[in-house]
Amino acid sequence: MRVLIVGNGGRESAIAQKLNEDQRITKMYFAHGNATTEQLGENIYEKDIDKLKHFAIQHKVDMTIVGPEAPLVDGLVDEFKKADLCVFGPSKKAASLEGSKAFSKKFMQTYNIKTARAKTFDAYNEAVEYVKDEKYPLVIKASGLAGGKGVVICENEQEAEATLHDFMIKRIFGDAGIQVVIEEHLKGFEASIIAFSNGEKLFPCISAKDYKKVGNGDKGANTGGMGSVAPSPEYTAEHQADFEKNILAPTVEGLKKEGLSFKGFIFFGLMVTKNGTYLLEYNMRLGDPETQVLLPLLENNLLDVIQDCIDGKNVELKFKNQKAVCLVMCSGGYPKNFETGFEIRGTEKVKHSQVLFAGARMQGDKILSDGGRVLNIVATGDTYDEARKKVYEDAVPVDFDYGFYRDDIGKF
Ligand code: AMP
Ligand code: GLY
Repeated sequence: MRVLIVGNGGRESAIAQKLNEDQRITKMYFAHGNATTEQLGENIYEKDIDKLKHFAIQHKVDMTIVGPEAPLVDGLVDEFKKADLCVFGPSKKAASLEGSKAFSKKFMQTYNIKTARAKTFDAYNEAVEYVKDEKYPLVIKASGLAGGKGVVICENEQEAEATLHDFMIKRIFGDAGIQVVIEEHLKGFEASIIAFSNGEKLFPCISAKDYKKVGNGDKGANTGGMGSVAPSPEYTAEHQADFEKNILAPTVEGLKKEGLSFKGFIFFGLMVTKNGTYLLEYNMRLGDPETQVLLPLLENNLLDVIQDCIDGKNVELKFKNQKAVCLVMCSGGYPKNFETGFEIRGTEKVKHSQVLFAGARMQGDKILSDGGRVLNIVATGDTYDEARKKVYEDAVPVDFDYGFYRDDIGKF
């Protein structure tokens, strides 16, 4: 089998690592991959969907798996399907559940999916009027894709007005911010649930926890994720029951009724409050860095599960009764401005963990930093402490100029 994986982060490295164990796979292509994927297959530097489609036809690719949201929202799956290519991911229409927060909020409201109370605005003046009478903190979201930066928690009316001005008038996110969703602020802890879809049913994985803030103790700016653990230690069977009844089941119903059924992944970003489990957002893909901790615990053969979903079969997911911890090493300055191109040394000294490169590329026999989130160190163990110890011990010899990481991933 020949497989094409679209994306270039730690998530795609984790998929590649998992599929690399599969004897049936003879070749893996990555568009455009990173230093890990280059060692496991071939990186191809092509972004254009039409050109990728021709590449897949020409190179007889048997299956395509899409990591990030942008190509999904741009309709990669629809185009590949038109050419009779086998691809795992949602259509452009279904991907709107991630690509448009206005659309997904309407979907949640229509199908009584438990979510924060919210209102959508297209007109700046009306939005400004609305925030005058709301309680604070108040959450303002750019409706379109904004690279994870389009959500602002406003502490007062002044901040809310400034945010609306940035989004709707200054258009700091371009067209993504001309429509906004304004919603009540929920207090609690966040959990991530990722499910496989076979076009009819959803099969959820165990929970995961993403560490979104840049600093220890969840301080500082939001990032793409500074680490992750699975399962989430805070998320109980009771929360899961609440999720299944008030979020998962009505989502399945809504997907069917709206003609949005798809074969691929769906990610539920949850906020667990004292009034129950709420849905903050859908992502129509695997999470990063959640994938890095879920796949090492998944006992099923990943290719089989994906193939079964594509064939419309039911799957029974099995996870090891262990814990996984992923530490993300970042470029100095991330999530703001940072420099890249620094040599990454010491990964050969890693003993107990897996190193998954993310924003890192090969140059000759060297590996250079090439993004904000540079690499992941992942380990499993019988306890969080055991997995965490491996990861932090293995982080010591790994080094690149100005690199940094959080000290408290997996510490409970
Ligand atoms: P989203 O892209 O909608 O998941 O929002 C990004 C992040 O903003 C979430 O992971 C939360 O940390 C935070 N957030 C979003 N919506 C809310 C809300 N209603 N209440 C509190 N925090 C929120
Ligand atoms: N970890 C959340 C995401 O992938 O967007």
